[in-house]
Amino acid sequence: MRYKSQRVAYPYFAVALLLYGLQMVLGLLSAAKYLGPDPLLHILPFDVTKEMHTNLLIVWVLTGFMGAAYYLVPEESRTELYSEKLAYVQIVVWTLMGLTAVIGYFFGWTTGNKLLEQPYPLKLVIVAVMLLFLFNILMTIKKAGRWTTTEGVLVGGLVASAVLYLPALGSWDNYTMAVFYRWWTVHLWVEGVWELIQGGMLAFLLIRLSGVDREAMEKWLYVIVGLTFISGILGTAHHYFWIGVPSYWLPVGDIFSAMEPLSFLGMAIYAYFALRRSGFSHPNQLALHWTIGSAVYSALGAGVLGLAHTFASVNKWTHGTLITPMHGHMAFFGAYVMIVLAVITYAMPSLTGRKDDRQSAVAMWGFWLQVGGMFGMTMAFAAGGVAQVYLERIMGMGYLDTQSKIRIHFVILIVTGSIFATGVGLYLWDFFFIQSRHALRVMREQRERGGVPVEAPSAAPAPGE
Ligand code: HEM
Ligand code: HEM
Ligand SMILES: [Fe+2]
Repeated sequence: MRYKSQRVAYPYFAVALLLYGLQMVLGLLSAAKYLGPDPLLHILPFDVTKEMHTNLLIVWVLTGFMGAAYYLVPEESRTELYSEKLAYVQIVVWTLMGLTAVIGYFFGWTTGNKLLEQPYPLKLVIVAVMLLFLFNILMTIKKAGRWTTTEGVLVGGLVASAVLYLPALGSWDNYTMAVFYRWWTVHLWVEGVWELIQGGMLAFLLIRLSGVDREAMEKWLYVIVGLTFISGILGTAHHYFWIGVPSYWLPVGDIFSAMEPLSFLGMAIYAYFALRRSGFSHPNQLALHWTIGSAVYSALGAGVLGLAHTFASVNKWTHGTLITPMHGHMAFFGAYVMIVLAVITYAMPSLTGRKDDRQSAVAMWGFWLQVGGMFGMTMAFAAGGVAQVYLERIMGMGYLDTQSKIRIHFVILIVTGSIFATGVGLYLWDFFFIQSRHALRVMREQRERGGVPVEAPSAAPAPGE
């Protein structure tokens, strides 16, 4: 850790990971409900568990983004954070907001707009916290008087994410209008400005893990930002095929969304070249695994599996079937979960004061079980989805009859989901019981020695600068 205030990232990472664990419980519960019987039907029905599952995902990934920004911005701008205290206040308010939302869903307190179900007062808290966060980050950069392209792209993505949350504050009686504007937040987040966040983190990690030239990395970053905007903005139209808007959206959606995989492909290529040029020799092999994993899985999950159902001629069959979560799971995991875990894995040795930044075997198992489990889950959704499209949409079989024919795919989903969740459990175990325990020991030793820091913060530039 080169700047003391970078330590505020730790509570963000800890909260993010705890919510990740909870998200898994609700994912498995949602999958089990498909199979039934469901003893919790009247207490915790499927719509509630799914809503909790997806909202926890969004809250914890955003928590991870904020923690990553607090870790990365001081290092890139070479200064301490503007205010550590504000960052602590922010995480407390944010966590309370997240927990209130989840408990509220249990009691039916929801606005029911998929992925944006947060009730209005909580939406206002989200806006306030985002403003607090951006204020702290932007004041840090202002104080330093210097910023890099890498952090500029990351912070630009975060500012734009806050702005794009504003359409979610509106409410419309007309369902078409509600759906139309919902995508301004949901689509423009995951296929727009969050890609900038991913790209910024990827550049930060590759520069440090591979020692590749910063200038070359940042040139690529401009290309990726350009590709994202050219394809992603009008690509929103791939959600406008069947919602009751004029038919000119059909070709717009086809053409622009078909170009969206290019930016994910770009990121995968740039990760490949960075590592080929500079080698895989960094001792934090696990952070390297998560970083390359994110580049590869997002190209597959978002790029390939997104393309698989993005044309209107295909989407008219697959829309709203299990093909959607087939793509949604791998894309979200590859692009946003893996990159957040990569930053956490990279940052942990320095946050906990460990000299040795090699990983534990537990954490490596955590990686492979998540990667393998997610592959299996994607396959289960895909096989179930193809069968569902054929039986329900082409043969005209009823929804429930179709479900009774595809039960085996949900059995496989639960098995592979359990493998995945075991991987998450191991990652959490490593974070809380192996790495954090080490940090506590270091702190105790430090106290016993009268407060002399074990490692003095160094002002030497990081590799690649
Ligand atoms: C990391 C990037 C991406 C993530 C996290 C992501 C995630 C998701 C999620 C969660 C949904 C379901 C949304 C809902 O119903 O509310 C969805 C839908 C969809 N995505 Fe993506 N996606 C990504 C990139 C892409 C790309 C690049 C394409 C196209 C090339 C694409 C094509 C689609 C389509 C066509 C749907 C609508 C499915 C339907 O009609 O039911 N996605 N995506
Ligand atoms: C233990 C592992 C998991 C299981 C068993 C699981 C299961 C499920 C189930 C059954 C649904 C409802 C699908 C439907 O509406 O038909 C769902 C939705 C969803 N899950 Fe998971 N999930 C797991 C992990 C994850 C992870 C790691 C992520 C993020 C990377 C995630 C993101 C989502 C999203 C975005 C949706 C909404 C997708 C849509 O509406 O199409 N899940 N999940
Ligand atoms: Fe989209």
